[in-house]
Amino acid sequence: MPVLFDTHAHLDSPQFDEDRAEMIARAREAGVELIVNIGFDRKTIPTTIALAEEYDFIYAAVGWHPVESIHMQAGDLEWIEELCQHPKVVAIGEIGLDYHWDTSPKEVQHEVFRKQIRLAKKVNKPIIIHNRDAHEDVIRILKEEDASEVGGIMHCYSGSWETAQQCLDMNFYISFGGPVTFKNARVPKEVLANVPLDRLLIETDCPYLAPHPHRGKRNETAFVSLIAETASQIKGISVEKLAAITTQNGKNCFRIK
Ligand code: NI
Repeated sequence: MPVLFDTHAHLDSPQFDEDRAEMIARAREAGVELIVNIGFDRKTIPTTIALAEEYDFIYAAVGWHPVESIHMQAGDLEWIEELCQHPKVVAIGEIGLDYHWDTSPKEVQHEVFRKQIRLAKKVNKPIIIHNRDAHEDVIRILKEEDASEVGGIMHCYSGSWETAQQCLDMNFYISFGGPVTFKNARVPKEVLANVPLDRLLIETDCPYLAPHPHRGKRNETAFVSLIAETASQIKGISVEKLAAITTQNGKNCFRIK
């Protein structure tokens, strides 16, 4: 059975309130060895920490989501900094820019993004990047802030190979989720084919972005096996090998022993 690492999940999401423990058990049965859960605002950071404390194979990332930028208050950045001392907190994220949902002005998003990159450098943790319709500004800010010092993950990557190369140059891993399994996903499949094996990660972003054939339904961590399958076909290697490599990449990125 492949040994899998879901590097981006939202298991504390209300969509799992009815069956969270069963869903996590299904992930284990599917071969999932490790999960990083993402806390991205005042509500989900504590629930993410709680999950990481309950399950030894669940780790936590904490950060302030770009869509929530406008709601960041005095003290929140210090709170995140403090939580970075927690033994299960392995990254700062998800952070970045989101120009799709018009909830936070761009200048506010830029400011919150920059502050968190600086914090990541201060505490020496990798960053998990959320980028929606903001490729140019994300790359520019990562460069201006010397984010290559900490590197991290381009989460659910949806950009071009050209942009991916810039991310690779800045010490980022490229992570693929459900959308790469969609029949019409020509560009993501091409990008995945080009990403070096030692910089490739897989994730679900569950409960969102379910892979084929569950597209449009609730996603869950067990489905990371479907993403591994697609990725292994594109790379022309066995799913076991693809899983082993991406799991080791995740451990390297998050410095999990
Ligand atoms: Ni997410």
